Amino acid sequence: MPLNDRLLALPKVDLHVHLEGTITPAMAQKLAARNGLAHAPELLAADGESFRWEADDTAAGALVGFLKAYDAATGVMKTAQDYSDITYDYLKRAAAEGCIYAELTISADHGQQVGLTYPQMLDAITKGFDKAKAESGIEIRMISTAVRHYGPAEALKVGRITHDNPHPLVTAFGLAGDENAYTMADFEPAYAAAALPYRTAHAGEASGPSTVRSAREVLKVRRFGHMVRAIEDADVMAEQKAINAVPEVCVSSNMALGVYKTYAEHPLRKFFDAGLKVTLGSDDPTFFGTSIGREYQIAQEHFGFTDAELLQVSRNAIEEAFVDEATRAKLLRRIDAYTAD
Ligand code: HPA
Ligand code: ZN
Repeated sequence: MPLNDRLLALPKVDLHVHLEGTITPAMAQKLAARNGLAHAPELLAADGESFRWEADDTAAGALVGFLKAYDAATGVMKTAQDYSDITYDYLKRAAAEGCIYAELTISADHGQQVGLTYPQMLDAITKGFDKAKAESGIEIRMISTAVRHYGPAEALKVGRITHDNPHPLVTAFGLAGDENAYTMADFEPAYAAAALPYRTAHAGEASGPSTVRSAREVLKVRRFGHMVRAIEDADVMAEQKAINAVPEVCVSSNMALGVYKTYAEHPLRKFFDAGLKVTLGSDDPTFFGTSIGREYQIAQEHFGFTDAELLQVSRNAIEEAFVDEATRAKLLRRIDAYTAD
């Protein structure tokens, strides 16, 4: 459903988006053909317009099934040009929906599967970004992210690679993948090795409130990928509120992965009304049939967010973005400009 003019113009921020999760089915087919691969059609659903994956109907099982499809889709990528193209393609689409800033979750492990070193992957992503920025002014930062189910030793390698190859746009370290694999403590060495100023971690989507608590206590994060299942434990909610926690809420992801069956069950509105510093993310937009614009639209249509409240969500995201203060101030001015309309 297209965004109405006012929603289209509202400045949006996507703080939670996995780069390989932005590949469109059309792009997957294009890359498969360009790279001489035959298997892209197997990734696609019968409509040819979405990806398909096998999942049982538990949140944990759905995530694991999805992650297999995600890795398979990455399999159509073979070159630096492919990384540049998917980056540009995503940022162009996001900017066209009013997105002024995105934080891309990037994965040295996936770059390696494509056949690129971490510096080669960063260089390719930056080329795609430069082109998109020249056209639309969109800004980005990147979160170098370890994949939990690849294990703590691999995560530590990602931490070290991140540390040894500093890049001005890589400002944070993160943890994604199967939320139920290993423990948070197993990954602290990876965060320590990366030694970046900012941290986030997936917790409280496929796993329950106790992982939110351990992400906070063990990894010392204040920003959380998802966090929605914190709602199941009043004590965890109070603890999160006490640190002014920042949830990166991805409604369509939660629905697609079966965490909630209906919007009415989803805690987005409860989080906002409890005074949590809510932000929105598209997570893996082409897999979950969404976009950052659509996430704002869902917040409006299904959770009653007014334009002013959505603008507050964008302001929250910029206030908590993993950027330098000059860039933050510049982005806040873009939000203020909309308010002044
Ligand atoms: N959740 C966890 N890990 C991921 C995801 C996700 O949606 N996408 C890519 N890695
Ligand atoms: Zn995610």
